[in-house]
Amino acid sequence: MNIHKLSLQLAAENYPIIIGTGLIGEAGGEVHLPHFRAKTGVLITNETVAGLYLEAAQEFFRRAEYDLQPIVIPDGEQYKNREVLFSLYEQMFEAGLQRDSFVCALGGGVVGDLAGFAASTYMRGLDLVHLPTTLLAQVDSAIGGKNGINLPVGKNLIGTFYQPRAVISDVNLLATLPDDEFFSGLGEVVKYALIVGNDFVSFLEMNFREIMERVPKILANMVHYCCRIKADFVARDEKEQLGVRAILNLGHTMAHALETVFAYQEMKHGLAVAKGLAFAALVSLEAGTLSENEFRQVMELFRLFELDVSPPPAVDDEQLLTVMMRDKKMTAESLNMILLRSIGQPFLYSKVSRELLQAAFAKWRSGMAAG
Ligand SMILES: NC(=O)c1ccc[n+]([C@@H]2O[C@H](COP(=O)([O-])OP(=O)(O)OC[C@H]3O[C@@H](n4cnc5c(N)ncnc54)[C@H](O)[C@@H]3O)[C@@H](O)[C@H]2O)c1
Repeated sequence: MNIHKLSLQLAAENYPIIIGTGLIGEAGGEVHLPHFRAKTGVLITNETVAGLYLEAAQEFFRRAEYDLQPIVIPDGEQYKNREVLFSLYEQMFEAGLQRDSFVCALGGGVVGDLAGFAASTYMRGLDLVHLPTTLLAQVDSAIGGKNGINLPVGKNLIGTFYQPRAVISDVNLLATLPDDEFFSGLGEVVKYALIVGNDFVSFLEMNFREIMERVPKILANMVHYCCRIKADFVARDEKEQLGVRAILNLGHTMAHALETVFAYQEMKHGLAVAKGLAFAALVSLEAGTLSENEFRQVMELFRLFELDVSPPPAVDDEQLLTVMMRDKKMTAESLNMILLRSIGQPFLYSKVSRELLQAAFAKWRSGMAAG
């Protein structure tokens, strides 16, 4: 077992993030579970992940003398909704959960967001542990305490900030992840590289073959790097009120617009983020904050990881622009967007005009960011 540990330090609490190879499947990994007051709880997962890892996860808890009842939900973003949420509450009631019981989320971001929200609201909050099973969840959604469900009118509109007692990421589980889901996670990984630059960019450049081949030891290093970066931003601005955590939204203005226009199921989050990062780099180039040389280095990272950052073919740019301008980050006549001064130097730019976005679109359409 190859193990990395870090602690997310918040004003009121700390919790461990454990990343390793074989943490769930091999005896010994369970020592990293926190101490829960009760021996009982529920393990929330979806049909796909249950088929692959439910037994191993139950065994993992049994070894630590916890007895968890499984709750299996359907697989898909379209189920991150109020109907499934309320069916969770009912099953949690039937399982006899008490105030001291706990919830385990075993799955990707959809399971994590739903189970996290259910845990934060059922009986005014139960202990929570995340066992993320997608790359995206291990590097991003399981870290930092955000959760939520979608409404028919928009994504993630209902949710809370609710920190887990621990996050335990076993990179061996990523072996079964479909390629498009793996690439989706890599979109977020490249985002972290653009945010911090230097060491992490060099790590990715040196190890990209092993990463693409999903060599567990290297994946564990990579996930550890990402979690360290995210934990640092979250620790400095837990509830996204100081403009620090907002830096993690690099690439997300365009990503959210793409997800909206393409209806979430058709555009995987991390793949939308990769395109959004390329677009943010183009806006930075147009705004004169990023040099052509740095822009080429950004594109090189996408090429290395075979991330398609070309503009989506069948979409009206004006439609995307309208969705972006409707974004909550809009002020009177311009948009707030995270741009780049260079790799490793993101900043909040509050003067992104419609004209600037149109100019970036024109460059994107001309094939300047092809990935
Ligand atoms: N809370 C946050 O901070 C945050 C951050 C980013 C994204 N999100 C949310 O995360 C969700 C996307 O998460 P995701 O990309 O993990 O998608 P997902 O949860 O839908 O998982 C993707 C697919 O992979 C399958 N899967 C999961 N683990 C697997 C494994 N080990 N082997 C084989 N298949 C496996 C799932 O069943 C699913 O079909 C979105 O709802 C998004 O809004 C939340």
